[in-house]
Amino acid sequence: MNNIRLAIVLLLVCSIAVGAKSDVTSISSMDILQWERVAAGVWKASIGKKELASMDYARPPKLKALADMGDAEFPFERDATLGQINASGANVRLPLEESEKIYGLGLEFNGINRRGNVYHLKVDHYGGVKGYTHAPVPFYISSKGYGVFVSTARRPSFYVGIGNRKDSKLPPYVDRTTGGSKWSARPVSDAVEASVAGDGLEVYVFGGSNPLEAVRRYNLYCGGGVLPPRWGLGFWHRMHTRSSDSDVLKEVAEFEKRDFPLDVLGLEPGWQSFAYPCSFDWDKTRFPEPKRLLNRLSKKGIKVNLWENPYVAPTSTISEALKPYTASHTVWLGQVPDYTIEAARKVLLDHHQKNHLDIGVSGYKFDEVDGYDVWLWPDHASFPSGHSAVQIRQLYGLMIQDMFMQRFGEMNKRTYGLVRSSNGAASPSGFVIYSDYYDHQGYVTALVNCSLAGVLWTPEIRSARSDEEWLRRFQSVCFSPLVQLNAWSSGKKPWSFPGVTGLVRDVIKLRTRLLPYMYTAFYDYNQRGIPPFRAMVLEAGFDHTEEIIAGKVHGEDNPYAETARLETTDQYMMGPSLLVAPVFAGQKSRKVVLPRGDWYDFYTGEMAGNGGTITIKTKLEQIPLFAKDGGIIPMMSPVNNIVSAKGTIDLEVRHYGRKENTYSLYDDDGETFDYEKGIHSVTGLKVQHLEGELTGTASTSGNQWQSRYGSISWKFMSP
Ligand code: GAL
Repeated sequence: MNNIRLAIVLLLVCSIAVGAKSDVTSISSMDILQWERVAAGVWKASIGKKELASMDYARPPKLKALADMGDAEFPFERDATLGQINASGANVRLPLEESEKIYGLGLEFNGINRRGNVYHLKVDHYGGVKGYTHAPVPFYISSKGYGVFVSTARRPSFYVGIGNRKDSKLPPYVDRTTGGSKWSARPVSDAVEASVAGDGLEVYVFGGSNPLEAVRRYNLYCGGGVLPPRWGLGFWHRMHTRSSDSDVLKEVAEFEKRDFPLDVLGLEPGWQSFAYPCSFDWDKTRFPEPKRLLNRLSKKGIKVNLWENPYVAPTSTISEALKPYTASHTVWLGQVPDYTIEAARKVLLDHHQKNHLDIGVSGYKFDEVDGYDVWLWPDHASFPSGHSAVQIRQLYGLMIQDMFMQRFGEMNKRTYGLVRSSNGAASPSGFVIYSDYYDHQGYVTALVNCSLAGVLWTPEIRSARSDEEWLRRFQSVCFSPLVQLNAWSSGKKPWSFPGVTGLVRDVIKLRTRLLPYMYTAFYDYNQRGIPPFRAMVLEAGFDHTEEIIAGKVHGEDNPYAETARLETTDQYMMGPSLLVAPVFAGQKSRKVVLPRGDWYDFYTGEMAGNGGTITIKTKLEQIPLFAKDGGIIPMMSPVNNIVSAKGTIDLEVRHYGRKENTYSLYDDDGETFDYEKGIHSVTGLKVQHLEGELTGTASTSGNQWQSRYGSISWKFMSP
């Protein structure tokens, strides 16, 4: 094609995609974005060419759930939403009011409010650079209640209220010599601008009257949050990397002897005949009979999870078959498969099916899909699909999650595993992110931020400098999406700090007691897009989350006036009614921000406060937990293994405070996707005042599945 023809084609592509010139003459060089309504409360616009993008990896949107939420208003003046292709690539500009706060932009370990900063979003191992993270998700949420997602495989840059176009509405000029503190090095800007060095991008807007609604619409549009297998919410222990099959059996026996729960056992690199790079084949000396080992563990209900990184060792039995689909460069001298190519996916999946899944492996831990520049392939590497090295790197973790989610789906088996990188559209993925970074406070901040990015995160425990730190970290991880002791290098066991062994056991058991509550919270993630672990900025500040969810709170009454107080990053919500306030080693007291309404101590049922910020004295034996007025919390007896626990499960259902309330307790087979066909049960729990007394009732009707829940004993915690 000669240059003139190319220019005409490009011009056509661009003008079709972005539509007419703006009426907003002040920003005349950009075009008004053309929005298409793609679901209730969700809009999409494209500029330039369609490129490889994270949204390509989403599951089908949950359109009915979105429709059930009702419509939302488009949050911008359409004429003020602009885009263009210029010499730098594709960029969009969306309005931003002076009072708005912006959250999200991925799994950051610091802070929560992204306003007034620049984020170059890059998949990377965490190194302290803004925007370089395991999950640099290009999704942001405004305190006004809408969300914006940029779908791309490039590294997008976000200028969040930073940078002023000369033709935009500028703030007043201030002379630095005489203006004193009024002069600012970052003059306020009236836009969020996002750009990629590529030929195009797609942008989605999620409406809402509060941040939770926007997050819910994003999660539902990506396919709904993951519902893990029930065993995934139990206790995970990863073996030392040099362990053999007999070490595994010894360790399992120790767990039994010491009365510690164990649901998933993780094998680290040493299960393979070669790592790194990886062979993906069992090591014949350490694991001569993997099938036999897995059978023995399966009889105890213990699942096995395998560590891998994607880089292929020359000794691997699939090395030759993958070779045609690999990149120009290696990682740790291993070949790098291009998993945008279907044939490459098939080679890996078929090998894994035959050697791992068919003998009972339950899932994987995909490591090093983030990595530092000095480890991974360079940005100029070539991939056989023709996608750039940057695009493949940015989506590598997402692609691998996607291919295994699909394979497990075909097997009608749910999986739950770990991954070290992710991107947008990952809410339905059964992979939880982890890091080598190990700051306890950063870990809790990440737990807060993951709810704003449609991903799950585990603040896993590996080791500690003291009994107290060991216990505090255990307490935090027990209130997270995946409870894991990762002993690949430390060789630690839950009882490695004898001074606190009893307290560690107690908190793991408390976690298992809360399983009915947690599993139901994940079902809400799946069906209604509500993150099971949530930043306080997603809370209403009201005692009535349901009102917010139903979109009934607007205008003056909007509880988001309290947002500033709720921007705290060291506490979060778990499920509808529990507030978790982790304690860090050395903290003798801590502040807890309570949204409006009455809050009760989870352990005693005593009133803890009404709104406001309280200061509590910490207790070594407890992670501070608070229940909302009316909170209904179903709990079961502790079990040491979820899969093998036999018989009916009797429940203690706790109620906190004085408020009447209802709760839909969810249950299903815990393992398959049959729930998607309606094969599940919902027990309606109701607390009301009858003749001056709080009374609880339960109803199970119309269920297609016989729940294992048995008798219910009601416990009114705040009589
Ligand atoms: C690291 C990973 C650790 C552990 C280790 C094994 O990259 O983050 O959790 O799996 O590899 O070599």
